[in-house]
Amino acid sequence: MDDVDKIKSKVDIVELLGEHLPLKKAGRNFKTTCPFHSEKTPSFVVSAERQIWHCFGCNKGGDIFTFLMEYENITFGEALRELAERTGVKLTVSAARSDREKKQELIYSLNHLSAQFYNYLLLSHPAGKRGLKYLSDERKLTIPLIKTFNLGYAPANDTLVKYLIGKKKYKEDDLLLAGLAYRKGRYVSDFFKDRIIFPIINHRKDVVAFSGRSLPERNRSVEGPKYVNTRETPVYVKGDTLFGLNLASDAIKKEGKVIIVEGEFDVISAHKEGILNIVAVKGTALTDNQIKLLKRFTQKFTFCFDQDPAGTEAQRKSIALIEKEGITATVISLALGKDADDVLRQNPAVFKKAVRNDTNVYDFIIDSAINQFDQKTSEGKKNILKKTLPYIGIIENEVIREHFLKKLAERIDTSFDSVLKQADKEGGAEVEKPKISQKALLPYEEVLEIYLLSLIFQSKNPKQSLTRVLAILDKIKLTTPSLDKLLSYLEKYNHQNSVFDTSNFVKFIPAELHVPFDTSFLAPIPEFADDEHFFRELEKVVKQVKKLSIKKKLAQLTGLINEAEAKDDDEKLKNYKEQFNSYTKLLS
Ligand code: CTP
Ligand code: MN
Repeated sequence: MDDVDKIKSKVDIVELLGEHLPLKKAGRNFKTTCPFHSEKTPSFVVSAERQIWHCFGCNKGGDIFTFLMEYENITFGEALRELAERTGVKLTVSAARSDREKKQELIYSLNHLSAQFYNYLLLSHPAGKRGLKYLSDERKLTIPLIKTFNLGYAPANDTLVKYLIGKKKYKEDDLLLAGLAYRKGRYVSDFFKDRIIFPIINHRKDVVAFSGRSLPERNRSVEGPKYVNTRETPVYVKGDTLFGLNLASDAIKKEGKVIIVEGEFDVISAHKEGILNIVAVKGTALTDNQIKLLKRFTQKFTFCFDQDPAGTEAQRKSIALIEKEGITATVISLALGKDADDVLRQNPAVFKKAVRNDTNVYDFIIDSAINQFDQKTSEGKKNILKKTLPYIGIIENEVIREHFLKKLAERIDTSFDSVLKQADKEGGAEVEKPKISQKALLPYEEVLEIYLLSLIFQSKNPKQSLTRVLAILDKIKLTTPSLDKLLSYLEKYNHQNSVFDTSNFVKFIPAELHVPFDTSFLAPIPEFADDEHFFRELEKVVKQVKKLSIKKKLAQLTGLINEAEAKDDDEKLKNYKEQFNSYTKLLS
């Protein structure tokens, strides 16, 4: 057994994927919505029997390794090491680390060390006194809270560079790569200066970056924006992480929802009040990658953004994106000009009440448009409809759609009829509609042929099923080349083996047939009361497949006959006509 097989024998795919996805039993397999593309109905299937996964929506599939590679965006080597560690399998070949992995590991260890150093300066060094005083006096943070978030302080005088290069013997280039320093003539200088430091930690608990907040104006020694963040590095892509997710994931699962706020302090103050299912986007709209990340834990998002124009716009953009992901969204409204942190510090009970009274996102959409424009003038009404209909007009549930359209009509004192008419014109104009799944684009013959192969491969006795199918098909080929090839391989396999064994068969077929095989092995088929019902369905389907294949052949021959006639090619014409006649006979 090689390393890969050893690891596979020790990890159950259902258990591993189940840690990341809400798998539900469906017949002999497990199902859930696909983490790799947007969908509302589950087409992601996991087979315990075959230890594989496949998505019928986006056609991705594979084993435990390909899943982790795709899900965590890592290389095969990284997935191999991660699973080796998990299973305690000692890798035989010292699996060589790629350049990219070496760089990433270097940055992670530098970031880890820096976070500890900044934290030490804040809590235990005279240099951090001002920072600590600010956090405890003005932001009302406690020491345990500072420790939970591993907050730190970065002094103004290149302290980190001196520590990492002078004491820890790292190179200048290492610090530049990690974004912890920048070049200043012949020297490198600290990137974060005189700032409170927030480590940004991903769901795998690696420190991927930092953000730094300046101290209040009075004793500022360094100019610059209130917040600065690490620039993008080989481990940090802006918009791919959420502040606080490392501490929130369990609570999100438990509460069944995630509260999304704008800033670091909003998250930390919520923790102080025992609200743990909370993350921060850091002042922007939610990105697609952040949505995918959160979707792993819950289907319900509650927004609590600042109620200023920027916050409202960020919230609107986020709502447009999550609409198509099938996520339920609500909005928490706080007093104008206040953020979660302000309210939590002043009166936590008010915040908790606002969380309980979260409103539907469509009410928020209507309210924010009405706040922005004058609902009494015709121009105002037009603008309000423009801002709201792209959201309200595309609500899938008819009853809910009508409810909010009526509400909107009432709010702007317009008839329901004219709002409805306008909705037909404007609905979906601003918001991108979900893409049609690839499955819907397959020709009917192919869908039917996949179903036929699914019936064969998922039957009790594939060998026997195939015999029946071949008897009826009688040399007629399937229209889809890959599926026809798969059928021939099964025939060949049956000649050489007395029983059908899935894992042997996988090794028997060429790699390009793995996807069609997995597809037919996992595609949903009905449950049959007994063998008789099964074979009745099988025969019905194979007859239909045969008919469609012959019809397609006849259509092709008609084209060829016309061509031969035009060219006066008598020999070809005769041949095609004979073929045409014999296929026609078969059809009857
Ligand atoms: N932000 C940022 N870069 C900036 C400004 C803001 O990354 N130049 C992010 C920070 O995460 C900040 C959030 O956007 O927390 C919201 O910004 P803002 O409302 O301006 O700040 P507050 O969160 O209120 O910050 P504080 O409470 O520390 O004053
Ligand atoms: Mn604030």
